[in-house]
Amino acid sequence: MPLVSGSEIFKEARKNGYAIGAYNTNNLEWTQAILQSAQEKNAPVLIQTSMGAAKYMGGYKLVVDMVNNLIESMNITVPVVLHLDHGEYEHALECIEAGYSSVMFDGSSLPFDENLAKTKDVVERAHAKGMSVECEVGTIGGEEDGIVGTGELADIDECIQMVNTGIDFLACGIGNIHGVYPENWKGLDFDHLQAITEAVGKDVPLVLHGGSGIPQDQIERAITMGISKVNVNTEFQIAFARATRQYIEEGKDQEGKGFDPRKLLAPGKEAIIKEAKNHIDWFGSTNKA
Ligand code: 13P
Repeated sequence: MPLVSGSEIFKEARKNGYAIGAYNTNNLEWTQAILQSAQEKNAPVLIQTSMGAAKYMGGYKLVVDMVNNLIESMNITVPVVLHLDHGEYEHALECIEAGYSSVMFDGSSLPFDENLAKTKDVVERAHAKGMSVECEVGTIGGEEDGIVGTGELADIDECIQMVNTGIDFLACGIGNIHGVYPENWKGLDFDHLQAITEAVGKDVPLVLHGGSGIPQDQIERAITMGISKVNVNTEFQIAFARATRQYIEEGKDQEGKGFDPRKLLAPGKEAIIKEAKNHIDWFGSTNKA
């Protein structure tokens, strides 16, 4: 199946009270793991690259070709969205041309008027090609790809103005941050989420960034309140690193041809598949393909 826009599948998720996993990929094994887990769970999935991860892998075109070729060679039949995560304006335009099926334009560090104007432009260009668009109001805290945000609750009026540009899903701060949550984290702000949902309307899919390490009950509650896309990256990275470390600590890389990267990276890949499948179950998107 060719890549799909996120527009319809996230609307469907919002309407029916489940969320779709939006998983960051970092390399070939990651991409295979994400596709395999979605296929085994018969779930729609969104694969996303940060600007940095795409550069690391060889650029946007390479990512498009890799994902499209894997969909074909792995006989993937579930809907797959290929999305740019936290893209600057020029990068969003580049991905629209390169063959992504969805982009996030993150203008949250710009003055709001400029964020809004650039969002309108990205929406126009992306929709002309049948692609979906995510935008962000208020900075999601934490550190990602060297970009550090302090985290804030999204301004409600700005959320409304952003949704009025025609975006397909909205990322809005509700106390969530990227990376590992600190010990003293207060949890998601459900009152604020409720206020956003009421302000923007019940059919607008909302995005929860920083999905790693949020207790399952909080994620499930947030999904009942309008979250339809949950972004996860750090948790998979930790699972991958832990499984790889165990393989080496057990000396398996020194047994026979255990040093072959196809063997060395296999436990990490299996760990991502396990995590991704668990998350699909929590998000309620199993058998929603
Ligand atoms: P985590 O790395 O905290 O899971 O966040 C991922 C994310 O929100 C990507 O935009």
